[in-house]
Amino acid sequence: MSVYFDPDIKNIFAPYVQPMLEVSIATDQGTFSLDLSNYESVCRLSQRIKIAIEGYMPGKETAHPMPPGNNPLPDRDIQKYNDWLDAGMPEKEGAETFEGVIV
Ligand code: HEM
Repeated sequence: MSVYFDPDIKNIFAPYVQPMLEVSIATDQGTFSLDLSNYESVCRLSQRIKIAIEGYMPGKETAHPMPPGNNPLPDRDIQKYNDWLDAGMPEKEGAETFEGVIV
């Protein structure tokens, strides 16, 4: 079955939208906030999000795994996120895919 940002990925991230809006993320391309409810925002930071949510997995440990507090997403949600990346990050059924820069 196809995985879309809306509704699949958006639902996974829904509980975390507000706290992550408070955080600034510095990259070579500038400093961004991460709005986990917004398609462009998630696509732009999609590789960093991957590192963050996989950061509790053996062999993939990272300094700041997300969500914080030893509270990893369920494996099936991480798998769904990775399936969505592999599919080219489609927004929703029938929509164009992301063409911006991944930072
Ligand atoms: C680009 C990827 C991300 C970066 C660089 C990042 C970075 C950060 C930083 C620096 C903080 C504040 C300090 C801390 O609590 O560690 C934070 C807080 C938080 N992040 Fe992320 N984050 C990312 C993605 C995510 C994702 C994908 C989620 C949810 C699945 C998430 C959930 C949270 C939550 C819930 C907090 C607030 C914790 C609290 O206030 O108790 N973050 N993030």
